[in-house]
Amino acid sequence: MKKTENQMLVIFGASGDLTARKLVPSLFNLFNANQLPKNFIVLGASRSDMTDTAFRKKVVLESKYLKEKFKQKSDKEIEEFANTFFYEDLGSDYDTDYSRLRKRVEDLNNKYKTGGNIMYYLSTPPTLYEPIAKNLADAGLNTQNNGWKRLIVEKPFGYSLETGKALNAGLQKYFTEPQIYRIDHYLGKETVQNLLVTRFANSIFEPLWNRNYIHHVEITNAESVGVEKRGGYYDKSGALRDMFQNHLLQIVSLIVMEPPIGDQPEEIRNEKVKALKSLRIMKDEETLHDHTIRGQYMASTINGEKVKGYREEEGVSADSTTETYAAIKFFVDNWRWKDVPFYVRTAKRMPTKVTEVVIHFKAPHHQIFQDSGLNNKDNKLVIRIQPDEGILMKFGVKVPGQGFKVERANLDFYYSSLAETHVMEAYERLLLDAMQGDATLYARADEVEAAWEFVDPILEYWKNGKDVRMYGYAAGVWGPENADELIDGIGYWRNPGENLADDPGYCVIC
Ligand code: BG6
Repeated sequence: MKKTENQMLVIFGASGDLTARKLVPSLFNLFNANQLPKNFIVLGASRSDMTDTAFRKKVVLESKYLKEKFKQKSDKEIEEFANTFFYEDLGSDYDTDYSRLRKRVEDLNNKYKTGGNIMYYLSTPPTLYEPIAKNLADAGLNTQNNGWKRLIVEKPFGYSLETGKALNAGLQKYFTEPQIYRIDHYLGKETVQNLLVTRFANSIFEPLWNRNYIHHVEITNAESVGVEKRGGYYDKSGALRDMFQNHLLQIVSLIVMEPPIGDQPEEIRNEKVKALKSLRIMKDEETLHDHTIRGQYMASTINGEKVKGYREEEGVSADSTTETYAAIKFFVDNWRWKDVPFYVRTAKRMPTKVTEVVIHFKAPHHQIFQDSGLNNKDNKLVIRIQPDEGILMKFGVKVPGQGFKVERANLDFYYSSLAETHVMEAYERLLLDAMQGDATLYARADEVEAAWEFVDPILEYWKNGKDVRMYGYAAGVWGPENADELIDGIGYWRNPGENLADDPGYCVIC
């Protein structure tokens, strides 16, 4: 097991929602599992005027996100956890002199013996990332001569290739690349990490993982919710920036990548960058027109309840053309994947919340059982990221009786069957990794830039291109009907249900 050194976590934007909803509960899980180092404290920093006691009350003692977790714990243990939290008011602006912050950090470090090791977590709007990094540097809070310093930043990492590059360069002026941890919470999901293990710890999949055997790859990311209270942010972002440029391209890179030399962070990240760089960038309008579809949800009634259309949501402009649905077809220009189409879609207000990868294998090249009903029923490997996490393999079996009628059966594995195992939440895992200096599951600058390089021309075409398609779809359906045109000639999108194996498959296996 890796060692977690004594350290201090400084959270900028500590009075915001992410701190209470994700960061503190994850820290509590680590505390509960004895994963925090012996000397560990959290210093919240933001623009609210709060005492240590008020901060403890807000994010720990009276937090609705911890209520359930506290049921199993004694008052003494809860107090012990709460007492590791401190607060520093930065005044009216994050862009200010940090000498008072420095003094507080030094005092706490001396008192609680955190070894000079500091992890800065920026849970603020991205426009503040560079000013905060600069102010930390100006106050000498980035130097590593007395303990390490790490900087964690949340997405979005830029708004385009240009702004993404500018942000990376801006941060790298004050922190070196190995000190910067770009968090993508999808990489913290067990099932996303398991993509690597499925591929490279088994000898039965990798030999088939190429153009010779794979017909196409389909990835669906659906959410049943709309934009909720984030209309203001989302309207400037859209599905492609919000989900595709980061989370989904990270998943794509794990499917596309070549085997890494080993499991060290740079060995894995080098292969992921190579994979992202091999995505064929769409340049001409005809391809961009034919291979991309965007849509926006419209008002409808779901289970008797009226649901707002996207343009009626709070913070969204009444004539917005921001997409809440994006479907992209693309190819990968390398030896392994030549001519294999990838279909990736992401959307809000779908019938259910689900993320899955489907590897569709080619039909056997010589069809022996032609009249068996096997046509168009390919072997599929379904990797379910969430919910009902698991893996399902669909393969042909003989229907008992005369002749050779073939049907599809399911062979499956469910994470829930590992009842004894505590599956870490994404933020919990990622925080612990950063505390231990393991950047494997964090995005490197060149990965982020390679992803923007692929996405930029699509965004540009959607903004300024000719005949750009924008379809409406009723909230609660699987997107615009026209989305099927993208996958035409191949079949149809697999519209997954809540459960991994909820299709009317034929099953004779116990
Ligand atoms: C976030 C997006 O990164 O991921 C949200 O900004 C989205 O719009 C969320 O809802 C989805 O995450 P998960 O883990 O619930 O699939």
